[in-house]
Amino acid sequence: MGNISEIIKAQLDAVSLRQLRLIAGVADSHGLQAYLVGGAIRDAMLGLPVGDIDITIVGLTPEFPQYAARALGGKVVSGSQFNTFALSASGRRIDLAMTRHETYAHPGALPTVAPGTMRQDLARRDFTINAMAASISESSFGDLLDPFSGKFDLESSIIRSLHDVSFQDDATRILRAARYAVRLGFTLESETECLIRRDGARLDTISAARVHHEFARVLQESRAVGILELLHRISALRAIHPALTLNEWTLNALRRAEQSLSDDKPALLLSILACEMDAGERKAFIGRLGMGARWAKVVCDTGLAQARAQHDLSVDALSHSEIHTRLRLLDESAILGCALSGGDSLAAQRMKLYLNELRHIKPILNGKDILALGVPQGPRIGELLNDLLTARLDQNLKTREDEMKFVAARL
Ligand code: CTP
Repeated sequence: MGNISEIIKAQLDAVSLRQLRLIAGVADSHGLQAYLVGGAIRDAMLGLPVGDIDITIVGLTPEFPQYAARALGGKVVSGSQFNTFALSASGRRIDLAMTRHETYAHPGALPTVAPGTMRQDLARRDFTINAMAASISESSFGDLLDPFSGKFDLESSIIRSLHDVSFQDDATRILRAARYAVRLGFTLESETECLIRRDGARLDTISAARVHHEFARVLQESRAVGILELLHRISALRAIHPALTLNEWTLNALRRAEQSLSDDKPALLLSILACEMDAGERKAFIGRLGMGARWAKVVCDTGLAQARAQHDLSVDALSHSEIHTRLRLLDESAILGCALSGGDSLAAQRMKLYLNELRHIKPILNGKDILALGVPQGPRIGELLNDLLTARLDQNLKTREDEMKFVAARL
């Protein structure tokens, strides 16, 4: 057993370190053993910034989270039937859990949870690199528990599952494997890759909400496209949904999207993935992931934008206002997704013109100005504003005076 106290001290910031010590103090005073586990150990050992702090306590009692929160000057923000609790203190979130032993009634089911030892708690996890814990108790701070040689796999840059039914127990681990591999620049250990290929179809057993959660985490990663490529290579993408496939064309569009300055990259990537789907496939894809309103709109609007790209936006002469009218109700990520998928086509150029310029153009006058010009309250005001916008888009109007004259002429 090694000791990583120096690594923990070097990689955690002062606030987190102090919080660890306080929680360990409460555990020590109750005769309980506390450990830092999972991603925090993995990232600290890799010299990466440590994000979420997960603490596991052997024999955690229902009162313990309250005591811990009090010691931190924070509060318990949530608890679950699995004896996991989230604390919030000094603007940080700390997850507390009881060491547990898990069994799965059937593939894809949520686990049946019972109190367990620290070793059992590590044995229920996804990959060796996530199955390490370090004591945070005063007398043994930093003592490493590494029953599955996670340290060795970290040093060998390998993602290895703990046992050969891991993906049958929980097929979302397939997405997690690809996410960690690409994020950390690791490779899937060959047996693990075989297990993924063997058990990929088990993704069918996973609820829409859980697939959605892990898929969203993939799209949020900074190297999301690499993860999608890997999932495609190991046949897992189409196991999520058969219409999710990558061809050279889609891949190029995804790579362009990753380099773009979009402020909603997940939605943009989603749109590109949906570009080649037909209406039925898009509907099924939305259902498979149980998408909320925003993502569902991105996928549906991608279909509409594609249809417009093929017809209304490909005709010879179109004014700026006509382009605006054809696109203004569509989600902007969906438009950009289609534009990036459309190469240099005329429709793609028009979509980019809309996103870069036309959508920002607004009349200078507003409803109140038009009321002040003597137009009575009612739908006429909206019509005039619309006419003003059309005229501005087509560059017939430039100044406030131009707009005033335009409205006066209409009255
Ligand atoms: N875990 C697991 N199987 C899952 C999900 C989670 O075994 N399907 C375990 C892993 O040991 C993981 C821990 O639960 O380390 C916490 O999960 P999560 O917060 O999702 O992962 P992190 O390791 O914190 O990684 P990330 O950096 O992606 O947040």
